[in-house]
Amino acid sequence: MVEIALQYTNRMPNKRKKLAVLVSGTGTLLESFLNEGLQVDLVLADRPCRGIDEVAQKGNVPTELVLRTDFSKNFDREAYTHLVLAALKKYEIDVIAMAGFNTVLAPSLFEVYGGKILNTHPALLPSFKGHYGVRDALAYGVKVTGCTVHIATPEVDEGKILAQKAVEIFPNDTESSLHERIKEVERSLYLETIRAFIADQINF
Ligand code: GRF
Repeated sequence: MVEIALQYTNRMPNKRKKLAVLVSGTGTLLESFLNEGLQVDLVLADRPCRGIDEVAQKGNVPTELVLRTDFSKNFDREAYTHLVLAALKKYEIDVIAMAGFNTVLAPSLFEVYGGKILNTHPALLPSFKGHYGVRDALAYGVKVTGCTVHIATPEVDEGKILAQKAVEIFPNDTESSLHERIKEVERSLYLETIRAFIADQINF
């Protein structure tokens, strides 16, 4: 199994950084973070979903639903992003971890939080970018895929790679069986990366 280890520095953190986790779905990554004791200061969602309705509530984490009502091509991404920014500001958020958040946010988010937004993608970037990373890897017939934790940029699934871990594809895998195995790996890799990142311990 291939793994790119995180590089730690000896820098001491200044003040505790406040973390927001952005979700749109089942929120199993968020759930594992909370179970492992990660302090999350805000869970923000773009739609009602298990991540905000059940997981965040159960973990007693403050929530903000910034409801996206328009999924058409006329979606006002900029206006929506401003609402997200206002919510993040209200909670004085320093670092953002996207964990299955399904709205692409406008560049204005990155003007404020550039370099402080983390994302995890269920494939080995730069291969299989986009919403169907698991499905596309399976369809291509690769034998190994995995997950990638990276700094998010306005370009989807671009940005400095912080950590990767490989997952073998089995001949009888379906999209969901494979995605579940990837998520098992993501849960620990993403948590480890977030912890190191908010403690200023990643050298990049
Ligand atoms: C993860 O595989 C992540 O990489 C992708 O969405 C999934 C989130 O899963 N962007 P969950 O909602 O936390 O279960």
